[in-house]
Parts: sequence; C-alpha cells; structure tokens
Amino acid sequence: MNDRLVGPCRLTRSLSRILLPPSALLPLVLVFLSSCSGVQSALDPAGREAEAVSLLFWVMVAGGGIIWLAVMGALIYASHLKKRRYSEHQASGLILFGGVAFPVTVLAALLAYAVWLMPAMRPWFGGEGEGLRRIEVTAEQYWWRVRYLDERGKLIRESANEVYMPVDERVLFLLKAKDVIHSFWIPSIGGKMDAIPGRVNALQLEATKPGSYRGVCAEFCGTAHALMAFTVEALEPDAFNEWLQKTSVASSDQPRLQQVSLSAGEASFLRQGCGACHAIDGTEARGTIGPNLTGFGSRPTIGAGTLPNTREHLIRFIRNPDTIKPGVRMPAFSMLPESELTAIADYLKGLE
Ligand code: CUA
Repeated sequence: MNDRLVGPCRLTRSLSRILLPPSALLPLVLVFLSSCSGVQSALDPAGREAEAVSLLFWVMVAGGGIIWLAVMGALIYASHLKKRRYSEHQASGLILFGGVAFPVTVLAALLAYAVWLMPAMRPWFGGEGEGLRRIEVTAEQYWWRVRYLDERGKLIRESANEVYMPVDERVLFLLKAKDVIHSFWIPSIGGKMDAIPGRVNALQLEATKPGSYRGVCAEFCGTAHALMAFTVEALEPDAFNEWLQKTSVASSDQPRLQQVSLSAGEASFLRQGCGACHAIDGTEARGTIGPNLTGFGSRPTIGAGTLPNTREHLIRFIRNPDTIKPGVRMPAFSMLPESELTAIADYLKGLE
C-alpha cells in the first residue's frame, strides 16, 4: 500500500513546492496583470466585441481554475487521505463521470456560451450590415489600405495604416487582401478576422470608449508580418464627422495645377517619381501602388507602425527602407543628397 503511494506523494510534494511559495507566484501574476492594459489588449476592452471576448476569457479562466482546484483536491485526497481502494465498479463510474460526462457537459456548455456571444461580432448572425458605416480595409504586403465609403459605396477618403472610427456606432469593416492571407485585429475593439485574396470578409465592430488603440496583422504573411501594424482612433461622433469632412476626397479633389511655385520638398517628391506609387490628395501625386500619403504629417508612425513618425526616421526610411522594414516594396533613394531627403521629409511631415 505504502509503496503504491510513493509516486503520487512525491508528485504532490513537487507540485506544492512549485505552486505554493508566494515568491514564486508573484512574478507570474505580475507578468500576467501587466499585459491586461494598454492600447493593444483584449483584456482592456474598448469595444462591444472586445467586451464579449474578454468576458469569455474570464469565464474560461474562472472555470479552468475551479476545475484545476477540484483535480488537485482529488489528487491530494487520493494520495494522502483515502484509506481504502475503490472497487472495480466505483473506479469505472469515476472514469465515466470524470473522463466522459463531465468534460462533455463542460465543453458543450462553453461552446453554447461562445456561440451565444457571437452574434455581436459575426455578420451572418446579425444581418448583412445594411445601413452601417463602411470602412474597406485592404491588406497589402505589408501595410493596410483604408478606404472610407459612403452608404452607396462611393469613396469618401483613402488613407493608410490608420483607422478612424466613431464610438457608439456599429461599423462594417470590409476586409480584402491583395496577394496573401492576412488577419485584421484590433484587440481592444474586437475579435480578429482573416483578409483573404479574392474574397470580401465582413466584420462588424463597435468602439465604446474614445481613445487611441493599436491594430495588428494576426496571420503570418511574409517577412514584415510583425511590422504591419496600424493605429486606431476612436472619436466621438461629432469629432469623427468633422475629421471625415475635413479630409474627404471631394474637398481636395482638384490638383493645384494653377499653383505657381511648389515647395522644394513637393517638387522633389514629384520629380523623383514618388507620385507614381503614392497619392496625395490635392497634388499631382496619384499613384495607387503604395500607401496614400494624404495627411501623412498627422500619422503617429511610419512603415505601418514600424517607427514613430519623426523627421529623422522619415529620412532614414526614404533613404533605405529595407534596413528599417525588411521585405518592403519601396525602392531605396540612397542616391539623393541629404538636402533633398530632408526637403521631402519636411514636406511629408507638413501634410496635415
Ligand atoms: Cu499581414 Cu501578417
């Protein structure tokens, strides 16, 4: 009898040695809690869908914790307290309950609960999203093309690597991909969804707290997958509409052809052919291959969340983008003199 208890006893002692000292638990708890807040945390929800995801997470943590305690209790009971053997019949009853009935019930209940939480985030439960504000997001290698559409699908404004959305309003994100599969995810606002070439995936999100958040690509898509982030600004409805009006294509559709003198930076930008890939509303730059740079100066980052948008970083990026973002498709402009790089960077920083 004692011989048989050696194994479980040693196991229990090792377990308690690992689990019981608070000094060992504290760092783990701190690491865990430190990841609960911030601009990119599913556990610090600022959106209707993120609240559901976070609730599901805590229900599962609590449920898992209770089951873990029950299993540990059973282990300690079996190794320390139980004095007599179970009969064959009792043992099979225990296995049927603990190994079949209990997990089936718990997993089925969790599945039902998760599916019940889903209507808020999955369009096939919540209608097709008629009448909702539409933002079309196309994932490129390796950045995000963001287009704001009106109810009839007409383009209001195009931007890149930044998503502006109003709070307390459901927004329909139409997700597309150009060449490979990406995944669009704003952890603070809601769940993720793949962007797949040849398809338009619809994701409804509703921000509930104004603020700045961070979105990422959640599916490995190539070299710069980890350097493919975007900023999210959730604004009060009035502020959002004001932003949209101020920057709409219609309000700046006519190139300033009559303008007599361009700034040195703008002239360089156009002369070096930057406008073949990039568009800047109100100028002759009409390229569609690369990110639209309208209002670039107010973007917090460059290279899709790779570096803060400072003059120095911008000069480095234009001179040699590959050293900052491996896999980037923009060619290097290292042949340009420093003065010209600086002029272009100043011009771009000045675009509000
Ligand atoms: Cu795009 Cu990973």
